[in-house]
Amino acid sequence: MKSAISRRQFIRSSCTACLGATATGLVLSQIAASCAPALPVFKTKFNASTLEIPVSSFATSALLIVRDMQMTYDILVIKKSETEYQSIYMECSHQSNPLTATSNGLYCSAHGSAFDLDGNVKTEPAIYPLQKFKTELKNDSLLINISNLKS
Ligand code: FES
Repeated sequence: MKSAISRRQFIRSSCTACLGATATGLVLSQIAASCAPALPVFKTKFNASTLEIPVSSFATSALLIVRDMQMTYDILVIKKSETEYQSIYMECSHQSNPLTATSNGLYCSAHGSAFDLDGNVKTEPAIYPLQKFKTELKNDSLLINISNLKS
């Protein structure tokens, strides 16, 4: 009987500690995401397997959110240099929650995962990097190849 009570107390205290740690992680990631200024959004129309974005869309920011109503999640496009751009799908690799993008990285409000601007995991529970798309500069446009879109 005594050992059953001890086991119950142990489980209760362990669960309380886990909830506290999880809540702290969520609060920190949500604060980081909510304090960041909103990124510009470019709305586009799905065209086969390629999205075309005018380079002039990066006139005021090196980060741009690309939104297409036919896609489940947005794409974060990052201008790394005058000739190099990177596109990251804003779907959390943990359990597919939409991500929030800031100039410091991407955050998930569901369970607190965080990713850097290369799509690598900074904070678990996510363990896999984010999906990326081949992005090419052609004349005055960016061509984002979404043919490998998984969802
Ligand atoms: S769905 Fe993003 S951390 Fe769980």
